[in-house]
Amino acid sequence: MKNIYQLLAEHQVLETERLLLRPVTLADAEEMFAYACDSDNVRWSFMPNQSLDETKHIIASIYLASPLGRWGIELKETGQFIGTLDMHNLVEAVGRAEFGYTLNKAFWNQGYMTEAAQAFLKLFFEDLGMNCLIARHDQANPASGRVMAKIGMEFSHEEPYAKRDKKDPNRIVTMIHYRLTKEAYFNQVDNPVN
Ligand SMILES: CC(C)(COP(=O)(O)OP(=O)(O)OC[C@H]1O[C@@H](n2cnc3c(N)ncnc32)[C@H](O)[C@@H]1OP(=O)(O)O)[C@@H](O)C(=O)NCCC(=O)NCCS
Repeated sequence: MKNIYQLLAEHQVLETERLLLRPVTLADAEEMFAYACDSDNVRWSFMPNQSLDETKHIIASIYLASPLGRWGIELKETGQFIGTLDMHNLVEAVGRAEFGYTLNKAFWNQGYMTEAAQAFLKLFFEDLGMNCLIARHDQANPASGRVMAKIGMEFSHEEPYAKRDKKDPNRIVTMIHYRLTKEAYFNQVDNPVN
C-alpha cells in the first residue's frame, strides 16, 4: 500500500479551470516577495518579508526543503505566481491534517482560493484517502472563513483567548475552527447542493 508521502509525491501538480497548483521554486521569489512584503497582504498569515533575499531563504528552507503537501498557485492564463496553499500538522496515524493559504491581494475576491482549495480537498479525500481536514482562522479575518464555508467545511468551534496577536500584542485572538470529515465530504459529493 502506498504511504501518504508517496501519494503526495505523485500529486505535486493539481490543475483547475484557471489555476495550476505546483511546487514553489526559487524562480517564484520575486512574485512571492511582491505580496509577502506587504503588511496588509500578510496581516493574517506571517510577518512581512523584509527583502527578496528573505523570501528566497523561506522558499529554500520551507518549500524546497519540504515540498510535499505545499503548492504554489499559478494563474494559467499569464503564468503569474499568485499565492500558496500548504498542508500542515499531518497526523498520519489518524489521517488528519490542517491546511492554510495566502493569495496576492491583487487577486482577492475572484474565487481563486476557493478554486484552489476545492482541488486540494478532492486530492485530500479521494487520492490521499485522509479522514479529517482542519482549518482555522482569526475571527477578525472573515474572508478566510468564507473560503472554508464555500468549500463545504463545517464550523467546529470557537476558541476564545487562543493567543496574543503577534502583530498587535494588545489584542487577544479568538480562533474559529472548521473541519471536514471524509463522511461529510463524500456525502456532499454524492448529494451536491446545485
Ligand atoms: C483568505 C484569502 C486566501 C481568500 O482568497 P480569495 O481568492 O479572495 O477567496 P475567494 O474569492 O475564493 O472567496 C473569498 C470570499 O470571502 C468574502 N470576503 C471577502 N472579504 C470579506 C470580509 N471582510 N468579510 C466577509 N467576507 C469577505 C468574499 O466576498 C468571498 O465570498 P463570496 O464568494 O461568497 O462573495 C485571501 O483573502 C488572503 O490571501 N488573505 C490573506 C491571507 C489569509 O488570510 N490567509 C488565511 C489565514 S487563516
